[in-house]
Amino acid sequence: MPMEILRTIAEARTACRNRKDAHLSLALVPTMGALHAGHLSLVQSARERADVVAASVFVNPLQFGPDEDFTRYPRPFEHDCGLLEAQGVALVFAPAPEEMYPFRRLAAGGPTQAGECSAAATPEAVVPDSTFVEVGGLSDKLEGRSRPGHFRGVATVVAKLFHIVEPDLAFFGQKDAQQVVVIRRMVRDLNLPVEIVVCPIVREPDGLAMSSRNAYLDPAHRRAATVLYRALMRMEDLTRAGERDGARLAEAGRRVIQEEPLARLDYLEVVAPETLDSVPDVSSGALVVVAAALGKTRLIDNLLLKPQGKP
Ligand code: PAJ
Repeated sequence: MPMEILRTIAEARTACRNRKDAHLSLALVPTMGALHAGHLSLVQSARERADVVAASVFVNPLQFGPDEDFTRYPRPFEHDCGLLEAQGVALVFAPAPEEMYPFRRLAAGGPTQAGECSAAATPEAVVPDSTFVEVGGLSDKLEGRSRPGHFRGVATVVAKLFHIVEPDLAFFGQKDAQQVVVIRRMVRDLNLPVEIVVCPIVREPDGLAMSSRNAYLDPAHRRAATVLYRALMRMEDLTRAGERDGARLAEAGRRVIQEEPLARLDYLEVVAPETLDSVPDVSSGALVVVAAALGKTRLIDNLLLKPQGKP
C-alpha cells in the first residue's frame, strides 16, 4: 500500500479511524520535518511496536517565539516523505497552519492553500482563538525560561494531534528531555489514552546530538558544537570517579562550555528527571540539561547520570 499524505484533519481522522476499526494498533511519531536519523529511529521503534505508523510533519508556529526561526525552519517535504515511505510509514499528516489553527489575524498575503508549507504565516499571526494546553510549573523552567510560550505551543499541538490521530502509542526522543517530561505530565493530568514511548538520543559520530537545526551551523560552529557533548562527558567522567555533588558537577560542565569561544552558554543544570528541580546530590540519578548558542543557532542536549550501583 502506498503511503497516504493527509492534508486535512477530516482526512486524517478518517484514515486513522479506518485502521483502528480494522483492529490495527496505531503509533504516532510527531515531527516538524527536516528529518534525520534521530527522527527515523523513532519511526523504527514505532514500527516494532505497532501495526500502523502515522507520522506528522508540521512546523508548529505556536511553539516558536517571535524572534525565532519559524520562517527559515527547513521544510524539505518531498524528501521527508521519501524517507518516511522507505521506513514503512503508512500515513503522513501534514496540515497547513491554518488547518490546525483558526486565525485571529492573518499574515500579510493571507493563508497559503491547504497543503503548502506556509512560511508566510508568522508565529504571531497564527493564534488559536482561545484554547491552549498549559502544563504548569514544568513549562516555565529551563527551556521554558529561555523560550516563553514554547511548551504551551508544544503541549497544545501534541494534544491536538493526539485527538486527531487517536494513537495507541506516541514516540518522542529523549533529545528533547523537557518536552518528554511536559508531555508525560499532560497525558497523565488530562487522562489521555495514549502510551508515551521515549527513544534514546541519536548522535553524530563526534557526539553532537542530531537536530534539524544543525544544518544552520557553518563549519567552524559545527566543529565547536561538540562542546555540549564534551561537557556532558566530562560530568559523566567525574560521576564515575565518585563525584556526587550536583553543584560541583554543574560547575565543571559549565567550565567546559565557557572555554569554547564560539559557544555562549544559556544554562547547564543538574535536575531531577521527573520534576526538573535542581538536585544537590546525584546518588539516586539525575538529568543534566544544557543549552548553548553557537553563533545564532541555539542547541540543546542532555544526559542521564546514573551513578554506579543504580539501574
Ligand atoms: P522535532 O524537533 O522535529 O522532533 C521530532 C521528534 O524527534 C521529537 O520527539 C524529538 O525529541 C525527536 N528527535 C529529534 N532529534 C533527535 C535525536 N537526535 N535523537 C532522538 N530523537 C530525536 O520535537 C518536535 O519536533 C516538536 O516539538 C513536536 C513534538 C513535533 C511538536 O511540534
